[in-house]
Amino acid sequence: MNVKLTVSYMTIQGRRSIYPKMYEQGVVSKEEISALLEVAKWAPSHKNTQPWRFAVFTENSLKALVDLQVELLLKQKGENEENLAKAEKMREKASKTAAIIAIIMKRDVQKRVPIFEEEWAVACAVQNIHIHASALNLGCYWSTGASTNSNEIRNMLNLTGEDRHMGWFFVGRFTGEKSLPTNRTDVEHFTEWR
Ligand SMILES: Cc1cc2nc3c(=O)[nH]c(=O)nc-3n(C[C@H](O)[C@H](O)[C@H](O)COP(=O)(O)O)c2cc1C
Repeated sequence: MNVKLTVSYMTIQGRRSIYPKMYEQGVVSKEEISALLEVAKWAPSHKNTQPWRFAVFTENSLKALVDLQVELLLKQKGENEENLAKAEKMREKASKTAAIIAIIMKRDVQKRVPIFEEEWAVACAVQNIHIHASALNLGCYWSTGASTNSNEIRNMLNLTGEDRHMGWFFVGRFTGEKSLPTNRTDVEHFTEWR
């Protein structure tokens, strides 16, 4: 059997980070986003804590989110030419994006497992979502910009204690040709057989 011809291999290999400049016009409905998120819950988590949480920003809430990010950037880094250009780029990216989903780790109340295991489980959930996106004609990528887990963003997301904001998942409509898979090293490179 040629493993590279199996459905699971091709599906995993076919996942690509698709960026806002590549998104096509058009909204993505709440039903589509829900369908995208539906697969998150099948990720593994130690003691089945299911620590993944998502906050979905679309339309007005997406605009408000970008306003906040721009405000934070200019307040924290200064209102100079370079940062104004960055702010403009953020707005342009957002204008091409149908939804931005905050990726959140909600800490187990009983703290039964280490924090990093909770974060790993959330990353597994994100990978599930990302792989599923192609089937729904959606393009996505995981972004960890400067505002990730900042105090202001944590407050806005109502995070407390050891909860963590793990970045932003951009979603847009995408039916186009994906670029070729990005370079990956071979199994021999990252595996030691003992
Ligand atoms: C945790 C994480 C954070 C990432 N943050 C960013 C980011 O801030 N900006 C960006 O352009 N891409 C980001 N990416 C996407 C990677 O650049 C991308 O996965 C990588 O180049 C491989 O491309 P592929 O996803 O198409 O295989 C991130 C990916 C992961 C898993």
